[in-house]
Amino acid sequence: MSISVTSPLLPVELIRADFPILGRQVNGNPLVYLDNAASAQMPQRVIERLVRYHSFEHANVHRGVHTLSQEATGAYEAARDTVKQFLNAAEREEIIFTRGTTEAINLVANSWGRTNLRAGDEVLISELEHHANLVPWQMICKERDAKLVVAPIQDDGSLLARDVIERIGPNTRLVAITHISNALGTIVPIREIIVAAHAQGIPVLVDGAQAVLHTRVDVQSLGADFYVFSGHKLCGPTGIGVLYGKRQFLEAMPPWQGGGDMIRTVSFSQTTYNDLPYKFEAGTPSIAAAVGLGEALRYLQDIGIERIAAYENTLLTHATSLLAELPYVRLIGTAPQKAAVISFEVKGVHPHDVGSVLDAGGIAIRAGHHCAQPLMKRLGVPATARASFTFYNTLEECEALVRGLTAVSELFHG
Ligand code: ALA
Repeated sequence: MSISVTSPLLPVELIRADFPILGRQVNGNPLVYLDNAASAQMPQRVIERLVRYHSFEHANVHRGVHTLSQEATGAYEAARDTVKQFLNAAEREEIIFTRGTTEAINLVANSWGRTNLRAGDEVLISELEHHANLVPWQMICKERDAKLVVAPIQDDGSLLARDVIERIGPNTRLVAITHISNALGTIVPIREIIVAAHAQGIPVLVDGAQAVLHTRVDVQSLGADFYVFSGHKLCGPTGIGVLYGKRQFLEAMPPWQGGGDMIRTVSFSQTTYNDLPYKFEAGTPSIAAAVGLGEALRYLQDIGIERIAAYENTLLTHATSLLAELPYVRLIGTAPQKAAVISFEVKGVHPHDVGSVLDAGGIAIRAGHHCAQPLMKRLGVPATARASFTFYNTLEECEALVRGLTAVSELFHG
């Protein structure tokens, strides 16, 4: 079975031609790239945009009267407009460029957290969280003598809204929850959680690192107070990410990092700060990466996030049913609502060995704890193997994964 250019879902073969890396060989085999949850690949259009920026447009932003600086500023700020439109944010000033999801969460923890958390207050997260949405809260809670409260998951990796909502209490100051689990692919009912938190006046931060490429995100309709993501998870460059925050929160928050661009006036005795969004963008930003992110978002919008999500669901269903038939494979994380991420173990084989044998056949998966050690502990495993799919993967690649796992089993089980 194959998805052809005539597929009603996506013209996958044409799309694959946009990604030079997908044409390469790895260890003498055609690359089968199934590590998209770690980082997605970049299409030629984004690569070319980066080359054009570096070749002809680069200068520092917001500083120069000269033409190049104005052009670079224009390109950088146009990328902000593209992100605003992509997320359907109400205002461009609500889009802060950061180095990635991790930096965005650290910004909120250090700025909002240090200002708003007092002894005895609680920050509510879940057992699904990536370390990026756990460790910054743990650090600031320790500093402020506040408490990290953790909502439990079900054995299949589901996070029930009820299990989050019933932990929102008089001491809760913030709910910080992932939209889609990077380790298991679980889709979290964040809308329900946000509505319930808001009913008690509690703001919600959503870690959207795994969600933005796989589901249409409209921050106004969702109501999230903060929404964060990284460029490289949606076919953009590394080193760029986004903090969306509602203006009322961002206005009330002090700057996190000090330096150039985030100031209005500076003297040795006092500094006044710049307006949003610059108040939170100290120093020279990742200009080229922001420009590349803007191009990546336009590329994805040209394909259509809804079409991407529908096609990925086809891949998930196909790959899940194939893997479920393998007696030596145990799927880990089988929530009813999932994105195209499949965590699994090959019985009796360490995930790193699974990953190495697959790599010898040109198949790239991730093996490890997926930056979610507490989740692994909850699931009773030290690590998992994880295949994560996106819109340029094919049904044939799901079948290649099965052939690779058969080879793993033959090697280790005889
Ligand atoms: N957060 C990335 C992953 O899930 C690195 O692999």
